[in-house]
Amino acid sequence: MNWTTDQIKDQGGRVFLVTGANTGLGFETARALAKKNAFVILAGRDQHKIYQAMLNIRAEKPEARLEAGLVDLSDLSSVQAFAESILAKHQRLDVLVNNAGVMFPPPGKTKDGFELQFGVNFIAHFALTARLLPLLKKTPGSRVVTLSSIAHKNGKIDFDNLKLEKPYNKFREYGQSKVADLLFALELQRRLEKNGLDIISVAAHPGISKTELLRTDQPEMINEFPHMSASQGALSSLLAATGKLEGGSYIGPDGEGEMTGYPTHAFVAEYAKDPLVASALWEYSKHELGIDFL
Ligand SMILES: NC(=O)c1ccc[n+]([C@@H]2O[C@H](COP(=O)([O-])OP(=O)(O)OC[C@H]3O[C@@H](n4cnc5c(N)ncnc54)[C@H](OP(=O)(O)O)[C@@H]3O)[C@@H](O)[C@H]2O)c1
Repeated sequence: MNWTTDQIKDQGGRVFLVTGANTGLGFETARALAKKNAFVILAGRDQHKIYQAMLNIRAEKPEARLEAGLVDLSDLSSVQAFAESILAKHQRLDVLVNNAGVMFPPPGKTKDGFELQFGVNFIAHFALTARLLPLLKKTPGSRVVTLSSIAHKNGKIDFDNLKLEKPYNKFREYGQSKVADLLFALELQRRLEKNGLDIISVAAHPGISKTELLRTDQPEMINEFPHMSASQGALSSLLAATGKLEGGSYIGPDGEGEMTGYPTHAFVAEYAKDPLVASALWEYSKHELGIDFL
């Protein structure tokens, strides 16, 4: 049977935080969760866009329980301030959805000097998860969902090119950021287990979904591939966020090449399973951020 939002149980009383929730997959994830009575924190970098997204959800469900969160993931001081505001305001966090991302932007760096795709897609979410860990720990059966991509299969971590030291290659750098996300999700699960914590880490990918992701490159490129709507693509994240799953699961669409379809267990490249690479990336990130994290 195809998994759809019909299978999501009532989420009343549970708190979700979705990054990049103003548009695309993040918006569809927040929308579906709100319709199931979850309390959803919609995080984004543009207050106006976040409020508009909240209005759009409330147009469908006026009593939706929503909160706006302002965070610029290309600036780690913003990530820290945002996480601190969440810790101060909330007593629980059931699910953190590390969704926001950029693909093929012009060459650039985050405020802290990381290549933009690596910095926004991975480093910022590593930092956010680390800083929200106290709240996840307080919440029984909590979960972290991290968005990867089919592109993780082409990704390798080049420790000599995480800060744009080499001539920019948008494909290689995007693949690097997305394999980093998957390495992170699997390593997080290993470390949560080792520490005996009642939290699981899972990953998801949306196949190829029509969103604003290619806005700074060639948006029409998506038409060269089988693709699906953002609401269909968000099913992977939604199953990952709400389904009965083992920690370390990776969810993606079941169609040919995992480009379209309904969510199921997805293919993980051998490289993304390598605990040595994952551990090296973890220690690098901890060191760069100057934070203690598992
Ligand atoms: N669409 C696909 O086919 C596909 C395939 C594989 C993986 N993914 C992954 O799915 C995730 C969501 O992408 P999408 O397709 O939904 O793209 P999207 O429509 O472009 O949405 C991306 C979201 O990330 C936010 N964002 C970008 N930079 C940010 C920053 N510095 N600080 C805070 N928020 C920021 C955007 O906010 P603004 O609107 O303010 O820029 C937007 O809300 C990404 O991780 C992407 O890699 C997508």
